[in-house]
Amino acid sequence: MPITVRPLSHALGAEIQGVDLARSLSNAEFDQIHRTFLEKGILLFRDQKITREQHIAFSRRFGELDRHDSLPRDRHPDHPELLLVTNVPEEGGKESASKYTGQQWHSDMSFTLEPSLGSLLRGIAIPPVGGDTMFTNMYLAYDTLSDGMKKMIEPLYAIHTGRRKVTDPNTAREREQTRINPPIAQPIVRVHPETGRKALYIGEKVSCLVDMTPEESKPLIDYLVKHATRPQFCYRHQWKQDDIILWDNRCTMHIALGDYADGETRHLERTTVKGTPSGYYLQ
Ligand code: OGA
Ligand code: MN
Repeated sequence: MPITVRPLSHALGAEIQGVDLARSLSNAEFDQIHRTFLEKGILLFRDQKITREQHIAFSRRFGELDRHDSLPRDRHPDHPELLLVTNVPEEGGKESASKYTGQQWHSDMSFTLEPSLGSLLRGIAIPPVGGDTMFTNMYLAYDTLSDGMKKMIEPLYAIHTGRRKVTDPNTAREREQTRINPPIAQPIVRVHPETGRKALYIGEKVSCLVDMTPEESKPLIDYLVKHATRPQFCYRHQWKQDDIILWDNRCTMHIALGDYADGETRHLERTTVKGTPSGYYLQ
């Protein structure tokens, strides 16, 4: 079957039809998928009834996989390459550590020295209504800034932490995240290593700019996030079971909207492809 490509929104994304990720793809098929990935930023594959092993094997075609040492509580117990994004309670009924994963605009692993190239998220149990994910195009976000703003932000670095804003920062998980992942400075503008294009690199996990006070930083961070997440730069995904979405963390951001009823099960699993080194420790 030939591969076909259907755009998902004006700003970014494409659905790839005519591939079965349960079998290994030829180099020609993979090259077409890879080219479309670089061009569109996110790829959707529907109706992929695959095993965990097949999810991992397909992900490996894009590069070395992260074993999630920086997110140990969210790993699959038997597959360190898989990160759980689930609201299914832990054994003993404790709230899942990954229930609130991704509920602010971010790019995966920005709080490490090897921010991710891309992530592949597989929908395993999806609420009947909602539980959507939004994505935005950070090339567009950069390109549409004024020349004056581009010049001003070019030399700036932002401080990224592994901590999440939405939950209580004093929970064991959040304290552990901070301990394992000391704050890291990342450039606000990054050059994509494969396309050579500049993309904005910021998000809601960033609280401060390097060498500035929080008060000075906040208006600029807030403005850049608001600008980058304008609806016309976005795609909103309504999940179906057996969807796989691959996104390029170097030129997109995403957010889990959390727009679903308590009591509905939402369970996804993610592989994370390692990217090129970026950033430095502040301490
Ligand atoms: C992730 C993430 C969003 C979602 O898996 O990296 O941010 O909607 N997930 O679950
Ligand atoms: Mn994420």
